[in-house]
Amino acid sequence: MALIELERVSVRRPTAEGGLLVLDETSLELTEPRVALIGPNGAGKSTLARLVNGLVPASTGSVRVDGVDVARDGREVRRRVGFTFTDPRAQLVMPTVGEDVGLSLRRTHRDRDRRREAVRKVLTDHGLDGLEDRSVHALSGGQAQLLALAGVLAGNPDVLVADEPTTLLDLGNARLVADRLMDLPQQLLLVTHDLELAARCDRALLVVGGRVVADGPAGDVVDQYRSAA
Ligand SMILES: Nc1ncnc2c1ncn2[C@@H]1O[C@H](COP(=O)(O)OP(=O)(O)OP(=O)(O)O)[C@@H](O)[C@H]1O
Ligand SMILES: [Mg+2]
Repeated sequence: MALIELERVSVRRPTAEGGLLVLDETSLELTEPRVALIGPNGAGKSTLARLVNGLVPASTGSVRVDGVDVARDGREVRRRVGFTFTDPRAQLVMPTVGEDVGLSLRRTHRDRDRRREAVRKVLTDHGLDGLEDRSVHALSGGQAQLLALAGVLAGNPDVLVADEPTTLLDLGNARLVADRLMDLPQQLLLVTHDLELAARCDRALLVVGGRVVADGPAGDVVDQYRSAA
């Protein structure tokens, strides 16, 4: 597993009122295979998740993944850390399903025919068999979510950061994506409002008002959040 370190990190966002402390000074070491971030809307979960691959810059402190500083070497960190957005369509950039996965394989599979073969394997592995030539705009929400996940994982990251990956999905697809996430060989940092899913993780952080207010075994932290609600 990778080591994700936040050392005295805070995030301040400019606002019309002069600035909002979105994340109070936070220090963390995340090494567990599956870590959940839970808490109310606007608490700072996505902010915390986005710090890990530099989508959000830290205002103070430093973020490192396996010792590589996100502020200093963002490209290298992004090579190691895959990120999926809540809305998968935000990251499906190519016209067709096959081309979208092919983009992620460009570096590792330079030969076109080999790449095509690899694309087919990725699609099969993710339950997207036969959709290679389908327009990404013609996919259902669940298929799009699976494709986004497939595309990111095809890049073989060490860590996957997934921001509410099951929120838009129906029951069947939510189960499919959830099981897939729980089976990943990669380290997972999962932002979710699905507390049953969060409880399946190894560790959970409860974020409230820009602070990590509870941190421990996922089941315990989920219980704490439930009893406080
Ligand atoms: N670019 C920005 N500029 C100003 N404020 C921001 C910006 N991004 C986020 N915020 C504010 O930071 C706070 C935390 O936002 P964040 O998206 O991290 O919350 P969240 O815990 O992911 O919430 P949700 O469960 O609703 O997704 C919110 O008050 C939000 O309005
Ligand atoms: Mg969020």
